[in-house]
Amino acid sequence: MGFKVGICQFEPELMQVETNLEKMESFLGSVSADLIVLPELAASGYLFNSEEEVLSIAEDPRNGPTANLFQKLAKQHNTSYVVGFAEKTENGIYNSAMLVNPDTSIHIYRKTHLFFEEKKWFNAGDTGFNVFSAKNNIKVGLMICFDWIFPESARSLALAGAQIIAHPTNLVLPWCQQAMITRSIENGVFSVSSNRTGRERNGDKVLNFTGMSQIINTNGQIIHRMDKNEESVFVTEIDPLESDEKDINEYNNLFLDRRTELYKL
Ligand code: ACM
Repeated sequence: MGFKVGICQFEPELMQVETNLEKMESFLGSVSADLIVLPELAASGYLFNSEEEVLSIAEDPRNGPTANLFQKLAKQHNTSYVVGFAEKTENGIYNSAMLVNPDTSIHIYRKTHLFFEEKKWFNAGDTGFNVFSAKNNIKVGLMICFDWIFPESARSLALAGAQIIAHPTNLVLPWCQQAMITRSIENGVFSVSSNRTGRERNGDKVLNFTGMSQIINTNGQIIHRMDKNEESVFVTEIDPLESDEKDINEYNNLFLDRRTELYKL
């Protein structure tokens, strides 16, 4: 079954929500795909210095500027999108991602494992690892950036039936892109990690993001990996049904061979 999946790597400007949404719209305007994954905190940038800054860019998950733009694009292009955003709720702010489908339905994931100073600005996610239906009823599991270092994240999504792990990121550590190859192999799933690029400054603070957004197949092969600095969209055709095959050979199965009674989790 052919399913066109894509990554969109770019450099957001800190707290310039309108500019960043315009940039994403111009990147996505002429692209034909079934599912495109965009970076973590794509509309707002990442490196905050105060609660006021975070509050000023946090959005309503169903009626904020990111939801509005991606609902419009999803309908127009008949595409599902996964995009990271700062989610404003009655209980505080989450580092979240939304899956937006062509029928304009929205599904939310809240980042479970917060990285570094994110703990100052965001609540730890409470949604757990859920799998949602994207276009063509393809099963997409959401995790965000630093969730990668906890293998339980990808495992939970795979056990819940994910065929594709959609992984918006703002990566600064050097290991994730290689680690996601293992996450794909050990779970027999496609993984689509969309990172941002560029250097972000705020006061005395500075972060360099690692780019290298990538699409990995169920055997851990790199279908495509961008370079560190490029800003672009890449789309390729995959068969998500390959993820439903968990046999490694006639004796071994990724899920059935697990010895959960011996694991300490
Ligand atoms: C990260 O979780 N943004 C490194």
